[in-house]
Amino acid sequence: MSAMFRDLFTFHRAPPHVATLTTGHAVPASAIHAACFARAWDALELERMIASAAHFADGVFAGGIFPEGGAPLLGFALSRIVVDEAEILTVAMTPDARGQGAGRLLLMHHLDRLAQFGARTVFLEVDEGNAAARALYRRAGFVDIGRRPGYYPRLDGSRATAITMRAQLD
Ligand SMILES: CC(C)(COP(=O)(O)OP(=O)(O)OC[C@H]1O[C@@H](n2cnc3c(N)ncnc32)[C@H](O)[C@@H]1OP(=O)(O)O)[C@@H](O)C(=O)NCCC(=O)NCCS
Repeated sequence: MSAMFRDLFTFHRAPPHVATLTTGHAVPASAIHAACFARAWDALELERMIASAAHFADGVFAGGIFPEGGAPLLGFALSRIVVDEAEILTVAMTPDARGQGAGRLLLMHHLDRLAQFGARTVFLEVDEGNAAARALYRRAGFVDIGRRPGYYPRLDGSRATAITMRAQLD
């Protein structure tokens, strides 16, 4: 195999990687969030959360070699920690990158980082009808602990039930 073909092969097979999200990622992160949720966070709102000491944000980025400006953001997870309890506020993947394992990679790194920063219990809320997210969380060790009817607004004006989930990190 020539060097050129080997490089191309490596480029296309390069796995995504996870890194801490910075305020410089607020714009692409807000676009991803808007593609995922009816009530989207704008870039300023996200920038404030990323900058806040109580919040922890990780991004999953495309693998490969990219020009200055960096690898494209594929998704991100954002949580806040109060003492030893964390709440995952969002996990969001751009639609094109879903179903390829990057969401799991992101969530597992994010949970490790929450543990490093002192979280022992992690809570989250997820739409009851969101089979992909509920399966992802269950496989990461979360269990259902509650149900909140009418919690989420839908684009059509109706409201969806939220399931509260919890995971122990130790
Ligand atoms: C939920 C979400 C983050 C999953 O990310 P992803 O990159 O597609 O997930 P992965 O490819 O890493 O899959 C991880 C696991 O999630 C589950 N999963 C993913 N897509 C699924 C689907 N369409 N149906 C059922 N389970 C699914 C599976 O358990 C899967 O593991 P498996 O393939 O070993 O069975 C992504 O679909 C997303 O951003 N959805 C919109 C936003 C959202 O709903 N966020 C969570 C709200 S709290």
